[in-house]
Amino acid sequence: MARIDRATIDRIMDATDIVDVVGDFVSLKRRGSSYLGLCPFHNERTPSFSVSRSRGIFKCFSCGKAGNALSFLMDLESMSYIEAIKWLGKKYGIEVRERELTDTERLAEAERESMYAVNDFALSHFEKVQRETAEGRDVGLAYWRERGISDAMIARFHLGYALDRADDLYSSALKAGFSEKYLVETGLCIRNDRGTVYDRFKGRVIYPVHALSGRVVAFGGRTLRKEKTVAKYVNSPESAIYSKSRELYGLYQARAAIARKKKCILVEGYMDVISMHQAGVENVVASSGTSLTDGQVKLIKRFAPAVTLIYDSDPAGIKASLRGIDMFVAAGLSLKIVLLPPGDDPDSFAQTHTADEVEAYIAGHEQDLIGFKADILLREAESDPRRRADAINDILGTVALIPDIVEQSLYIDQCAVKTGVSASLLAEQLKRITAAKASKAEHARQGQAAAEDRRREQQAEAPVQKPAAAAVAAAGGIDPRILRAEEDLMSMVLRNGFLYLCDVYPDAEASEPQPMSVVDYVECELRSDDISLASPLLRRIWERVIALRDSRWPADSADNDRRLLRERDETLSRGQAEIRERGADLETTMLLDKALVEKADADYASATDDFALHYVSRMIGRDEDRAVIDEAARLTARPTVLSKMYPRDDRRQTLLDKLPRAIYTLKNAIIKSRISALEQSLASAGSDYERQLAIMKEIQEMKLVSMEFDRTNGEIVITPRM
Ligand code: UTP
Ligand code: MN
Repeated sequence: MARIDRATIDRIMDATDIVDVVGDFVSLKRRGSSYLGLCPFHNERTPSFSVSRSRGIFKCFSCGKAGNALSFLMDLESMSYIEAIKWLGKKYGIEVRERELTDTERLAEAERESMYAVNDFALSHFEKVQRETAEGRDVGLAYWRERGISDAMIARFHLGYALDRADDLYSSALKAGFSEKYLVETGLCIRNDRGTVYDRFKGRVIYPVHALSGRVVAFGGRTLRKEKTVAKYVNSPESAIYSKSRELYGLYQARAAIARKKKCILVEGYMDVISMHQAGVENVVASSGTSLTDGQVKLIKRFAPAVTLIYDSDPAGIKASLRGIDMFVAAGLSLKIVLLPPGDDPDSFAQTHTADEVEAYIAGHEQDLIGFKADILLREAESDPRRRADAINDILGTVALIPDIVEQSLYIDQCAVKTGVSASLLAEQLKRITAAKASKAEHARQGQAAAEDRRREQQAEAPVQKPAAAAVAAAGGIDPRILRAEEDLMSMVLRNGFLYLCDVYPDAEASEPQPMSVVDYVECELRSDDISLASPLLRRIWERVIALRDSRWPADSADNDRRLLRERDETLSRGQAEIRERGADLETTMLLDKALVEKADADYASATDDFALHYVSRMIGRDEDRAVIDEAARLTARPTVLSKMYPRDDRRQTLLDKLPRAIYTLKNAIIKSRISALEQSLASAGSDYERQLAIMKEIQEMKLVSMEFDRTNGEIVITPRM
């Protein structure tokens, strides 16, 4: 469940002015009804980045990127959803009250806070000891100096030292009022079997680990002793605030550089990160010696689309690093690998080269994963055919993960050169591997779909719609005609939302007409033909729209209406008072009164329309699903026949014309696509005569429907169908 309650998110989003937010990062100039500037998401000289205040969205007409204030912050500043909300809250002076916690949650939260607090204390303590005690300076500080680390880096990474005494931190923390409980839970101290508590990191130099939020969640302590019997590093254990698999060392310090360079460099050790930063290469983080996890890969992906791994050229390390490497590819990250000259690690390399030299070396030695894997695995397999085959299958397994098939085929060519096996054979084997993977995935997906269906049936609120369009979709993809029609239709929905369209009589006996909005109309049309959208993303958006109408819209629009009426009344009484003050004759007064009322009514009507018009895109823009926010913004920004500024009534009139056409186009696309599919299956029906006949009959029926459709094109009028 979200940590910030709905009402707060609403308050913040209501206060948010996208022009204001974007304006903090991009200089904008007014251009007609929107604002224009240079796109911050790509390099350009002439501005094509447009921001619309009334719609709350931005769109770059050059690179195509679109979104709202939330996604702008999430992308440009690499914030999470919650962080973006909080940022906006701060900007608009709205207190972000997190959701009321349950008692258990409150307790856990308080525990976590106490753990952060004691970690903060420990960090300052280790820094202070290093600065202010003789041992700290002679041993701790001396160590960093000897490793060539500058004071600036010591400060930036909060490097410190723990005195070589069993209870220095322990007793200082107790004296400062911290309780033993949290010292032990964070792992700063250890309680042994006899109940004695002592410092975990004593006599070690300290590397604090910061979470993305900037809070200290763990420490790494390196010994200064040379004996092999002493563990080189001691690290904080997993705790309520530290999950090793979800943190990357240095990410807090590197995040801005990673986002700026659109690339994350991954090294192994704490010292590697620091030396690289010191050399001026700041987009570097460390996996801290273990193989990477899915969580860490996702974390990186939030900041950059590309990763470069830097390894020492020692073979054991390389072999180990191959584990988990496929995750990058599967996540769609572009992955490069750099091997350092023998004998170097990133630390020593960075200490002996300038930033330019380091960058140049990386650029000159980057290898892609497939080439790298091929080199390593094939070298290892030598000429043993069995092992070579295994290696090739391993490599193809990685190729199969690449989402782009053009890229895949380039890799196949490369593989063919490296292995001496023909590209066509490799391609065939790749097909097999892909098919095996797909059937496995399909299995899993069907399981999920069945569960989803059961869930829906149990809810049984809305009738389950027959996925007619989905059935039509060509195997694998969606018919582009259908997709295009769905996008057009949803674009109209998002741009016009709950705008009142016309009155309809819900059934023959009803005496009272009911108002019908754009959303109502589209729903009625889709339902009457059992159409469910073929695109999963559009379907999700549409479901959100319907959910809005059934949940929040009635109350929100009623509230808004009350507010507008109150404003109207206030304007009226203020205006009437002014008119009275003038003391004109009765006739003039009455005329002025009349004009005043007319103006107030018109303002009220257009404000009501505005609210209804923008409601859907405003609300959908608060969705926690990034894909929904972006797609909605893209569709809202999409130029349509309605993109000109229509006066309200013209807009309604135009919609009464365009909406039925859009529905028609969609239905027609579904039929046409169905016919194509039938014709295809006819071609593959072989000599099964019965089946041929059945298919031909169905095609015939479809063509009739299609002709009927073509005949009525353009003449469709809104007819209530319930
Ligand atoms: P390294 O042995 O390469 O350490 O381990 P390093 O950071 O380069 O240290 P220096 O240069 O000798 O001072 C790489 C990383 O693996 C983790 C640490 O995160 C380390 O930075 N590690 C290594 C441990 O956690 N425990 C160990 O005993 C060894
Ligand atoms: Mn090292």
